[in-house]
Amino acid sequence: MTDAMPGTADPLVGTEFAFSGQDFDRIRTLLRQHTGISLSDAKRSMVYSRLARRLRATGRPSFSAYLEGLRAGAPEWEYFVNALTTNLTYFYRENHHFQILAAHLKRLAAERPGQTLQLWCAAASTGEEAWTLAITAAEVFGTLAPPVRILASDLDTHVLATARQAVYRRDQLAKVPDQQARRYFVEEAEGRYGVRPELRALVNFRQLNLLDPAWPVRGPLDAVFCRNVLIYFDRPTQLRVVERMAGLMPPGALLFVGHSESFSQGQQRFVLQGRTVYARQPG
Ligand SMILES: C[S@@+](CC[C@H](N)C(=O)[O-])C[C@H]1O[C@@H](n2cnc3c(N)ncnc32)[C@H](O)[C@@H]1O
Repeated sequence: MTDAMPGTADPLVGTEFAFSGQDFDRIRTLLRQHTGISLSDAKRSMVYSRLARRLRATGRPSFSAYLEGLRAGAPEWEYFVNALTTNLTYFYRENHHFQILAAHLKRLAAERPGQTLQLWCAAASTGEEAWTLAITAAEVFGTLAPPVRILASDLDTHVLATARQAVYRRDQLAKVPDQQARRYFVEEAEGRYGVRPELRALVNFRQLNLLDPAWPVRGPLDAVFCRNVLIYFDRPTQLRVVERMAGLMPPGALLFVGHSESFSQGQQRFVLQGRTVYARQPG
């Protein structure tokens, strides 16, 4: 146990383990290289507290000892990445997106009757976004078995396990209108509500790092939700990811991004269609 962190006087950072500026920089570099997530200086105390738990769990006496054994692919790697992602999400987040999606699905169904529409939720976190997509599709088609398939992916295996489980507390359903809550959830235990099996059949969850050179995703995709993840990447990485998504989308397909993620500058593949919604351009 050490009392102070060498090289910093940050009072917010705990004192159980030494945490030097060099340790922080090594962590930032590792994370950026493998996940695209850029951590600002302001994230230092968050990094300390989240990784201090991993030091305790693995019995490492210091950050440098912990980092010494950390390699991509090592068993601890997954815990390291899971500990540093930010997973905030909720049902019907930015509700206007789901209204635009509903209109888009209706239009596509009229243009291509009988075809299954393909959606990708590219940073699904604990699943609320993917389930909101499924509910939206069910509402549009008026059936629990709409002609829609949803790929829901995330880097973080821990949140994906929750997403697959698809069981939420009553307070987590606060933004789900009552009628939809009754229609698409069943109470599985006291105060715990599971997504109905018919909706579960629409969604396929898998781990996917947006930085990986190959994505196991087959186009054409009619809509992509990539919300509140690009914000963690630097600009060139954001543009690269968006460009690769464009390659999986036909003209007219929609890309939904987070409220503070804008792409009007720096790329030619998409044109702004509505608030943080972009339409794939021809070519
Ligand atoms: C703030 S959540 C956003 C959840 C949801 N899209 C929403 O807007 O409510 C960000 C998610 O991005 C995931 N993420 C971060 N870096 C990623 C990467 N390189 N590839 C895939 N997912 C990533 C995190 O694990 C986290 O679950």
